[in-house]
Amino acid sequence: MKVIQAADYDDMSRKAANLISAQIIMKPRCVLGLATGSTPVGVYRQLTEWYRKGDLDFSEVTTFNLDEYRGLERSHPQSYYYFMKEHLFSKVNIVAGRTNIPDGMAQNPEFACKDYNDRIERAGGIDLQLLGIGHNGHIGFNEPGTAFEAMTHLVELTESTLQANRRFFSSEEEMPRQAYTMGIKNIMLAKKIIILASGRDKAAILKEAMEGSISPKVQASILQLHNDATVVADREALSLWKP
Ligand code: F6R
Repeated sequence: MKVIQAADYDDMSRKAANLISAQIIMKPRCVLGLATGSTPVGVYRQLTEWYRKGDLDFSEVTTFNLDEYRGLERSHPQSYYYFMKEHLFSKVNIVAGRTNIPDGMAQNPEFACKDYNDRIERAGGIDLQLLGIGHNGHIGFNEPGTAFEAMTHLVELTESTLQANRRFFSSEEEMPRQAYTMGIKNIMLAKKIIILASGRDKAAILKEAMEGSISPKVQASILQLHNDATVVADREALSLWKP
């Protein structure tokens, strides 16, 4: 894995946004895999700023998001659809029909998962996948123990993930227990991968993912086998890692 060290969150965001911009400029009709969560917010802010300055054009870009809660309407403020609209899609000239997020309200989960895989394939695969990392090493909602061969699937969220995301919901009952996620295989098929990490609370899991044994117990550890994966992380997240 390549490592780009950033001073702090803003620097991490700028450095990762730079790699994404380069991808869009080199191949305007590219396919981006996108993540939600707190870590990529600054990246989307930076991309939006460069778009406003006239330096970036999203008109031919296609996107596939990693995941979505099951049972949340698109209009729910905690849906990942809402998040993407708020942080990127409504702010740049991306074509709505070229943005893809798993449908949290799908009637037939099996069909919805297959259809998502098919859509990624029809788009020609993902050129650049942006990832965050969970405290338990999850990427997307691929929780510890999930087979690395998995493609898009429906998951039961683990207690650790439920706790981490609990702060975003007004009550325990409101919080979805299941989610759709791209599988590790979808992620590994991306041509380039960027793994973002910020803050001391990510230091231990980031080190384990980068240097620990490759095991489904730490889903992100598989990224060591990808031939174009770059960690873009700030000093705190890299504080336990020695180059
Ligand atoms: C979000 C996603 C998750 C997050 C991870 C880290 O689409 O797939 O794997 O990247 O939970 O979340 P934050 O960035 O909030 O720490």
